[in-house]
Amino acid sequence: MKAAYAGSFDPPTLGHADMIVRASRLFTDLLVVVATNGAKKGMLSPETRVGLLKGIISQEGLANVEVEAWDGLLADFARSRECGVLVRGIRSGDDLSYERTMASMNRILPAALDTVFLLSRPEYVDLSSSAVRQIVELGRLPRGLVPEPVAKALEMACGPLLQI
Ligand code: COA
Repeated sequence: MKAAYAGSFDPPTLGHADMIVRASRLFTDLLVVVATNGAKKGMLSPETRVGLLKGIISQEGLANVEVEAWDGLLADFARSRECGVLVRGIRSGDDLSYERTMASMNRILPAALDTVFLLSRPEYVDLSSSAVRQIVELGRLPRGLVPEPVAKALEMACGPLLQI
C-alpha cells in the first residue's frame, strides 16, 4: 500500500528522519508531503524543506520514498496520488488529542483516509521543529536535533549558529 507522511517539516528534524525510515519499511511506497499548516509561520521555504527531505532519503538509501510539496487539503493530495493511508508520529500523550482531531477530519473528508500512528523513539519525544526554530532565532543549535545538511540550511537562512 502507498502511504503519505505529511508535515510542516520546518525544519525537518532527526525525529522526522526516524519516522520516514520506519514508515518506509511498513509500506510499499511512501510519499513525504511538505504541507501547509496555516497556523505556523515558515522559517525555511517549502522548496528548501523538500530538498532537505530528499537529502535525508538519499542518505538513508530509501528507494521507495519520494517527496512533494502540497498547498491544499491533504485528503485531495492522497486521492490524487492514490495513497490509501496517512502516517503520523506521536511523541507523547500531549500529541494524541490534536492527532485524533486531524485523523477524524481526514476520515470524514471524501477520501476517507485512515491514519496509522507510529510512536516516536524516546530520544525524540521532546524534540519539535518550533523548539529548533526558537533556539536558532537566538543563534544556537545544539547537536543531535537535526541532520547536518539541515543545520547548514538553517545557517544559510539565519546566519552563523553556535553548534554546541
Ligand atoms: N520527532 C520530532 N518531532 C516530531 C515528530 C517526531 N517523530 N513527530 C512530530 N513532531 C513534531 C514536529 O516537529 C512539529 O513540531 P512543531 O509543532 O513544533 O512545529 C509537530 O510535532 C507536528 O507538526 P507536523 O508534523 O509538522 O504537523 P503540523 O501539525 O504542523 O501540520 C499537517 C500537519 C501539515 C499535516 C496538516 O496541517 C495538514 O494536513 N495540512 C494540509 C491541510 C489539511 O488537509 N488540513 C486538514 C487536516 S485536519
